[in-house]
Amino acid sequence: MLKNKEIVVGITGGIAAYKTAELVRAFTRKGANVHVVMTKNAMEFVTPLTFQTLSGNPVIHNSFELFTGSKIGHIALADVADQVVIVPATANIIGKIANGIADDFLTTMIMAITVPVLFVPSMNTKMWESTIVQRNIEKLKDNGYQFMEPGSGDLACGTSGKGRLPTIEEIVERMEDIFTEKDLMNERILVTAGPTMEFVDPVRCITNRSSGKMGYAIAKIAKRRGAEVTLITGKTYIESPHGDIQVIEVTTAVEMRDAVIDHYRRSTIIIKAAAVADFKCKAENCQKIKKQCNVDSMTLELEKNPDILEELGRIKENRILVGFAAETDNVLEHAVDKLKRKNLDLIVANNVAQEGIGFGSDNNEVSIIDKTGGVRHVPRLSKDEIAHVILDAVKKAMKKRKKKEEDWY
Ligand code: CTP
Repeated sequence: MLKNKEIVVGITGGIAAYKTAELVRAFTRKGANVHVVMTKNAMEFVTPLTFQTLSGNPVIHNSFELFTGSKIGHIALADVADQVVIVPATANIIGKIANGIADDFLTTMIMAITVPVLFVPSMNTKMWESTIVQRNIEKLKDNGYQFMEPGSGDLACGTSGKGRLPTIEEIVERMEDIFTEKDLMNERILVTAGPTMEFVDPVRCITNRSSGKMGYAIAKIAKRRGAEVTLITGKTYIESPHGDIQVIEVTTAVEMRDAVIDHYRRSTIIIKAAAVADFKCKAENCQKIKKQCNVDSMTLELEKNPDILEELGRIKENRILVGFAAETDNVLEHAVDKLKRKNLDLIVANNVAQEGIGFGSDNNEVSIIDKTGGVRHVPRLSKDEIAHVILDAVKKAMKKRKKKEEDWY
């Protein structure tokens, strides 16, 4: 979403200004063209040279400076910007813009801007809570400016409380969110992700190599596209998706099944990306199983876990149900069999034996198969991009169904 976008980063004079260097780097890594504008006070904390090096563009720090030598020549920055983010946004810049003061490049540019402007405040807790700052924020929000809430924790001024700059990932996610079309606004999507874990005894377990990345990407992108998202996840080592997503953590397949059954009724779309253990230990060993020195092997007796997707296939009614098939051979054949057997609308199949995709990887290469046997091969892309394609396929399936219903009447 940030690829080829013109992003203006306005840096003002707060200690969190040093963190903006990482933010500029994150934007450029995503393919954005970043223009940095610094206030005079910002330069007391960080230098333009850092930002010029990281963005590859001249940094504007004098009032009413022209863009000599930059790619966009003399065109005003306000006209080329796709989005502006002011980070850190101090009480001073919030107050100035809220009250129409335009006495340097940043404030003057903001007056002329028509694209979204995101303020990312960071300041001392008492300043943040002051009536004046809050009133100015309300005024700006009423005029269409967007704000991120500061985080809580230790502050550079030696106190602790609300006022910390949100993380770089949170700021990037919010920017991506602003750019994304909200085409899933009325949908409630239930996503499962990650591996389940079955206990052998209190110390040992049986699990699988699923990282949870594909399911987390679907939850994140669905949220970005406006859906209300519930994510039911097995234990993973990746960060929970940012934004307003209901996250329910489970461990075993039975726990996942219970959580899914508790939540599926509210949903319009269910996407089961989790790698559920097919079997669990038959005996419950409450004590650690000891190694017996006189035996060379041991047998674990396993019993079947519930097949959550199959159960959903029986009770789904008119919800769109999407399953996954992680295979190592005869990928399409196995996937089609699962699609039919579990009464799915779509199945996403991938070959996990293929190098560079699947378990743990940031990329994937999948085939999406629909009920009518239609197959769409999706080449190797990031899991975020694959998530978009899967959600597009879900939308298409919903459209097809709607048309069929209309034709029926
Ligand atoms: N699934 C599930 N509950 C299970 C097993 C699988 O809900 N107990 C779901 C997975 O979330 C996935 C789909 O079923 O969406 C396919 O999972 P997979 O393990 O590939 O298929 P299985 O039916 O278990 O068949 P097999 O292990 O033989 O390939």
